[in-house]
Amino acid sequence: MTVRYVKSDVIAVGAIDWDRRLFDKLIPLPQGTSYNSFLIQGSEKTALIDTVYPAKSHELIANLKKLDIKTLDYIIANHGELDHSGTLPQLLEIYPEAKIVTNAKCKEILMSSLPLNEDKFIIITDLETISLGNKTLSFIMAPWVHWPDTMFTHLVEDKILFTCDFTGSHLATSDLFVKSENEVYGPAKRYFAEIMMPFRTHVKKHLAKISALDIEIIAPSHGPLYSNPKFILDAHRDWVSDEIKNEVVIPYVSMYENTEKMVQYLTDELISKGIKVIPFNLPATDLGELAMALVDATTIVVGASMVLSAPHPNAAYAAYIVNALRPNVKFLSAVGSYGWAGALGEKMGEQIKAMLPNIQAEVIQPVFVKGLPREETYKRLDMLAEEIYNKHQLAMKQ
Ligand code: FEO
Repeated sequence: MTVRYVKSDVIAVGAIDWDRRLFDKLIPLPQGTSYNSFLIQGSEKTALIDTVYPAKSHELIANLKKLDIKTLDYIIANHGELDHSGTLPQLLEIYPEAKIVTNAKCKEILMSSLPLNEDKFIIITDLETISLGNKTLSFIMAPWVHWPDTMFTHLVEDKILFTCDFTGSHLATSDLFVKSENEVYGPAKRYFAEIMMPFRTHVKKHLAKISALDIEIIAPSHGPLYSNPKFILDAHRDWVSDEIKNEVVIPYVSMYENTEKMVQYLTDELISKGIKVIPFNLPATDLGELAMALVDATTIVVGASMVLSAPHPNAAYAAYIVNALRPNVKFLSAVGSYGWAGALGEKMGEQIKAMLPNIQAEVIQPVFVKGLPREETYKRLDMLAEEIYNKHQLAMKQ
């Protein structure tokens, strides 16, 4: 635990979680994460922006003690999820005078998940402000990045925008500020893909909304801070753009080698046509890597062997994730091999499509084969590659 100075009176007092490797028992954290919390000392009032994950509460509390903070006037809750709000009950015991400042939806979420009293809240609405004396906090409602309660806090005089999850990265680092934009780009994109991609329309809106603000620092509540806001805002603009990229993602699972042979053949064919291809062998795939690739994918081809009378459960799981993340893909297909199943094997493409109701993509004729792929199978894969190429060329011209 340590305190780090963003400015002389804006102090990072959160916690770095070097060892955490899974979020929500789902999302891999190969580089750990952090729960950033910021103390702002105004000439008249003191505020804390967000708190930390309950397992790290002791670090936040120790940091406040280290700074000899006797009074806390406001605790700003930008978001109700427990990795940012989990320390609220303990803080209110230590600082009984403190009020939780948040929006009505966030209050509702906090009241349902934490033992908090109604009278502890001050409810604010869009663009409302609170004065700390020489500093002003302005609240910007930004729902659905990634919960309905999310909002940003603008510290006007210091030109700092506190964005909580938005623009964050799961990256444990001793650097308070981003030192290498190359180093943070991947973790930030992974984070966007994992939790914000389904809300890309909202992200677009919020990017437009904050574009008029005077911001010198963006301070998310995960990962390092940005002293070059343009870098991370431009990256997000790219990730939510409607630009068609010449990219195909192929999540696949192959029980024997037949489906794998088909995927490898299709991959090589697409590469030879100048298309970027990212195959993911699902049993060995980091979900975050797959999510990241989906941000730029124009086409998804699911590769699956058949288990009993349905696509392999790994393919079904990948389809479930893709459906939940709602990437902006335009075309969808499937390839694979089945064993003893007859007509049902040929229907695997339909089964996979049915698992993706949220994906409004045009289906390109899938290629399934009983057992070993043969010359005829490879001809069909040639046709599939050709069709993907033609569809991409047409879409990129529009
Ligand atoms: Fe970092 Fe949605 O919590």
